[in-house]
Amino acid sequence: MTRDNDIEKAGFNTKLVHGDDSSARVPDVVQPINVSTTFRYNDDPASLVAALDLEPGSGILDNLIYSRLSHPNSEKLEQVFEGILDGHVVMYSSGLAAFMAMLTHYNPKVIAIGQGYHGCHGIADIFTRLNGLKQIGLDDDYSQLGPGDIVHLETPVNPEGVSFDIKHYAEKAHARGAYLVVDSTLAPPPLQEPFKFGADMIMHSATKFFGGHSDLLAGCLVTKDLDIKHKLIEDRVYLGTNVANLESFLLLRSLRTFKIRLLTQSQSAQQLVQYLQNHIKEFSALSAVHHSSLQKDAYIKEQLPIGHSPVFSIDVDSPETARQLPYRLKYFHHATSLGGVESLVEWRSMTDKSVSQTLVRVSVGIEDVEDLIQDFHQALSGLSK
Ligand SMILES: Cc1ncc(COP(=O)(O)O)c(C=O)c1O
Repeated sequence: MTRDNDIEKAGFNTKLVHGDDSSARVPDVVQPINVSTTFRYNDDPASLVAALDLEPGSGILDNLIYSRLSHPNSEKLEQVFEGILDGHVVMYSSGLAAFMAMLTHYNPKVIAIGQGYHGCHGIADIFTRLNGLKQIGLDDDYSQLGPGDIVHLETPVNPEGVSFDIKHYAEKAHARGAYLVVDSTLAPPPLQEPFKFGADMIMHSATKFFGGHSDLLAGCLVTKDLDIKHKLIEDRVYLGTNVANLESFLLLRSLRTFKIRLLTQSQSAQQLVQYLQNHIKEFSALSAVHHSSLQKDAYIKEQLPIGHSPVFSIDVDSPETARQLPYRLKYFHHATSLGGVESLVEWRSMTDKSVSQTLVRVSVGIEDVEDLIQDFHQALSGLSK
């Protein structure tokens, strides 16, 4: 059933569609949903190898054992992701499971961590409670970091959608023998490629743009080192955090259209941001627009050479306006999360109490951008005195 298609030389979209052709187990163009948790051992008694003696993650065709270790569609996901993420990939049941796996692997004594997704701070707090992990701010004094410690950089950052200089933090981390981990969830490739700027490990919540349809949870870690991939898989077996069977099928389905969706969302977000910024004086309800497309720093163009995150945020004139705005919009669901084909808006202090009560986060979907601009126009006009 397998096809050799010289995929390494192919382009990004081709890799998304054909990156796992070589591991097809049946002739179906869409490979089946595998719900089995367990797989019959090899028919030949002479060739049985103890499960623990197998190379982690080796061979989807021969070595399937139990779906907590791996299963056909989790293996196919890793295969497709390895084509586009420029490294060795380990899949997880969510973005936070990937972050937890990263901390478990490095087991740092100190982590420098900035603003960003509140859930990552929640996990860092668990490590602090369990084994005394010391947390310092992203821009604190790095003499507190030692070899093997971690700098965790989320860029572009949730919820604002503004960017930080990866190279700067990579140099600061490496000067202390620490590792730089970049959460690139808000700008996955081809928008941003953190390895080019010195990241040691990359994480993504695949729930967001890779999934793209607000119907699955998944995450991944990307490493340049095959040995680290194997260690992460060994940990994953016991943490029980492999991506689930149905989710894997859905995510594979989603990956086929990932780049087309992402680039449309990115362009529309930039147009909507530009519209808001250009008309800010017309709306007394609108105080500020935050997005990397409005940043002037030189590293922005290098780090985000073809476009910006489809996520941005605005500040409005009062918490009451922030509460009302989502209900004035017709084409944005008032809901948390981001990255789906449907535009979302969130009064962010609903889920993250650390952000200002006047901040509203926007995740732009694939609707016609003229409709989205018109929608913001009517909503902000209604709220401005
Ligand atoms: C930047 C970022 N990292 C990690 C996560 C966690 O991902 P998941 O919800 O898949 O666990 C999120 C979720 O919103 C996020 O925005």
